Amino acid sequence: MMKIAVLVSGNGSNLQAIIDAKVSGQIVGVISNKADAFALQRAEQAGIATAVIEHKDYPDRVSFDAVMHQKLLDWEVDLVILAGFMRILSPIFVNRWQGKMLNIHPSLLPNYKGMHTHQRVLNSGEVFHGCTVHFVTAELDAGPALAQSVLKVAQHDTAQSLAERIHQLEHFIYPLVVDWLCQGTLQYQTDGHVTFRGQALQRPIQFSQF
Ligand code: GRF
Repeated sequence: MMKIAVLVSGNGSNLQAIIDAKVSGQIVGVISNKADAFALQRAEQAGIATAVIEHKDYPDRVSFDAVMHQKLLDWEVDLVILAGFMRILSPIFVNRWQGKMLNIHPSLLPNYKGMHTHQRVLNSGEVFHGCTVHFVTAELDAGPALAQSVLKVAQHDTAQSLAERIHQLEHFIYPLVVDWLCQGTLQYQTDGHVTFRGQALQRPIQFSQF
């Protein structure tokens, strides 16, 4: 069974969704870069090992990442899930986990990389918005997209209401993609391509609410 570690910084509702979905892998540990992250309580509640590795205790990104890397090796992790982990990872770390590290981002990538996606979507008058699960590569929010869930922006939507609606979508697609990877339905090939049920994945698998 695949051993999974989840990296968090905050609330951890995606961590909770992955725990509750009982994916085919085993969550062996949760790492937070913040001691007061609520996600740590969720992990403890579920009987999952936790580690707090605070970035402010390290002189630079590379030394912080090296400590996290060692923890992942100690736990014999096969798959790393970023779930609201608010640190940019060094290229050395990312390359070590290439094809074995996922992120979820609250936009329809490649649109709206980076922060404050909901407000930016509203400001641009977009009709559609959503979230994307993707493999992590050294370039921020740019790795191969695996699945997306799409919603239609309503006239009364605010950044807050969009955040809530997107979270609901995330809680469905993130566990699903994790499960696909654990089962081998989705596979990362050594040449950087992704296959889904043995076929090259040309574009992310899309779910929509309408
Ligand atoms: C999610 O919106 C995710 O897209 C982004 O960070 C947020 C994490 O939320 N990467 P939670 O901590 O899982 O509730």
